[in-house]
Amino acid sequence: MSLDDLNSRTVSRKHLLGIEGFGKQDITTLLDVADTYAASNEQLRKSTDLLKGMTQVNLFFENSTRTLISFELAGKRHGMDVVNFNATSSSLAKGETLSDTLETVDAMQPDVLVVRHGKSGITTALADHVNCILVNAGDGTNEHPTQALLDALTIRRHLGGFEGKTIAICGDILHSRVAGSNIRLLSRMGANVRLVGPKDFLPTDGQFDAALFDSMDEGIKDADAVMMLRIQKERMDTTTAPSEDDYHTHYGLTKERLKLANDHAIVMHPGPMNRGVEIASDVADDKNRSVILEQVAMGVAVRMAVLDVFTRPLRNT
Ligand code: CP
Repeated sequence: MSLDDLNSRTVSRKHLLGIEGFGKQDITTLLDVADTYAASNEQLRKSTDLLKGMTQVNLFFENSTRTLISFELAGKRHGMDVVNFNATSSSLAKGETLSDTLETVDAMQPDVLVVRHGKSGITTALADHVNCILVNAGDGTNEHPTQALLDALTIRRHLGGFEGKTIAICGDILHSRVAGSNIRLLSRMGANVRLVGPKDFLPTDGQFDAALFDSMDEGIKDADAVMMLRIQKERMDTTTAPSEDDYHTHYGLTKERLKLANDHAIVMHPGPMNRGVEIASDVADDKNRSVILEQVAMGVAVRMAVLDVFTRPLRNT
């Protein structure tokens, strides 16, 4: 594939609201373009003027470290004007609705709005209220599409592809938008997806194209990648949360337990981690197996690819 071919590819959607509805070709385009940014991000000078004069506004109504910083870096590396909206000091406190807030920001003519919000499906509902490109940076328990893309890029770099690979996603699947987007993406790309966790944290059988395991040992056996998730206490009644020690005993990824997976299996975590709960510190820090910080690096590359590819229709008119 030539660079010209890569630079001319587009995706079938105006907005990035979720992995739902994205085909293999769209996913592959975003991963291929992200690969070029992963390489350029290793250079001393990382910035280009590709999107100079365009504007990106990040509206985060929930906390974030990785997603917010990497979207800001991605926009700045493309030469965009980047504005971060501060929900706590905004006019939301004066009673303004979310859709009025969004329409107000949209009236300032940004090219891209990146939105994180606690309500599932909110970005899809808001898409009709804006003219600019809308990117979902995580909505409730629903989707976190750029996280799934950066996870897929990391997996592809280590395993060479997805077809026939066994990916075990372990922990609190039910409350995790990361799991939702990853299951959709990985199963579409031909991976065998396993969902592993206590019954209370698993979706119903048949909801996703994935096998369910309530035994951690069986679920990670011979897996090519083991993706750990934290317990999303903010999205559940905390009285129903399991004790952390008990959870670690039965579902924590320890060095001993990791021996059940393939010898080459990579260990993943979207972050933030709760060390000693879903993952033991020595596993998280094992440079031979853990790709957790590489996932973070791929996050910047993927978000640069999203900004590049989704703005191509605007730049080509
Ligand atoms: N993985 C992820 O979304 O992390 P942040 O909440 O820090 O953005």
